[in-house]
Amino acid sequence: MEINDNKSIEMDELTNEKLLSGHEYDGIRELDNRLPRWWVWLFITSIVWAVVYVFVYDVFKVAPHQQEEYKNEMAAIGGGSQAQQAMAADTAGLVQLTAQANLDAGKATWNRLCIACHLAGGQGLVGPNLTDNFSIHGCGYKDIVNIITVGQPDKGMISWKAQLTRDQILDVASFVATLSGTNPPNPKAPQGDPCK
Ligand code: HEC
Repeated sequence: MEINDNKSIEMDELTNEKLLSGHEYDGIRELDNRLPRWWVWLFITSIVWAVVYVFVYDVFKVAPHQQEEYKNEMAAIGGGSQAQQAMAADTAGLVQLTAQANLDAGKATWNRLCIACHLAGGQGLVGPNLTDNFSIHGCGYKDIVNIITVGQPDKGMISWKAQLTRDQILDVASFVATLSGTNPPNPKAPQGDPCK
C-alpha cells in the first residue's frame, strides 16, 4: 500500500466505481481519490488542537499568552510597568545616611559604576543631572533608593540590585542625595519635574 492509499486509476476495487470524476481539461483527467488517511488525521488533530487551545488560553486561562508571559518575565527581572517597579523596592522607614563612612563607601560605588552616565559631579551625560532641582523619579532619599534599586531599563538606567547589596545601594543613594544643590561645571539641562 502506498502512503497515500491511492486506488488504481480506472476502478475502485472495493466499490467497483469509476474513479475518474468525468472532468477533463486539456487531456488532464481528474481523479476522485479518497483523501489519504494521514492527511485526514492531521486535519482532525488540528481541529481538536484548536479547540483545546481556545479552552486553555482563552476560556479557562490556565496558561498565559505570549504577551503575558513576556510581561511576567520582565517583571521578574525588574522591568515591567512603573506600578510594578514602585512595589519592588522596600523603602519604608529609610532615612538618608550621613556618617562619613557611608558617604565614602557610596562615593566609591559612584565612581566605579555611575559616573560613566552621570559624570563625576553628577552634572549628567547619558543620565540626568542629579545636582539640579529637577527629577524624573522623585527628589527624596527614598525615591533615589527606589530608582537605583529597580531602575528604568527601557530608558537606560538599569536596576542595580543584582550588582549592589542593599547596604551599598543605601550608601550610594545617600551620596547621590549630597549632590543636590552643588553646582558642577557643564550641567545637563533639567529633566523631569521641579522638586518642592
Ligand atoms: C548606562 C548609563 C547609566 C548608569 C551607569 C547609571 N545611570 Fe542612573 N540613570 C541613567 C538614565 C538614562 C536615567 C534616567 C532614566 C529615565 O529617564 O527614567 C538615570 C536616572 C537615575 C536617577 C534618577 C534621576 C531622576 O531624575 O529621577 C538616579 C538617582 C540615578 N540614575 C542614580 C544612578 C546611580 C547611583 C548609578 C550607579 C550605581 C547610576 N545611576 C548609574 C543612566 C545611567
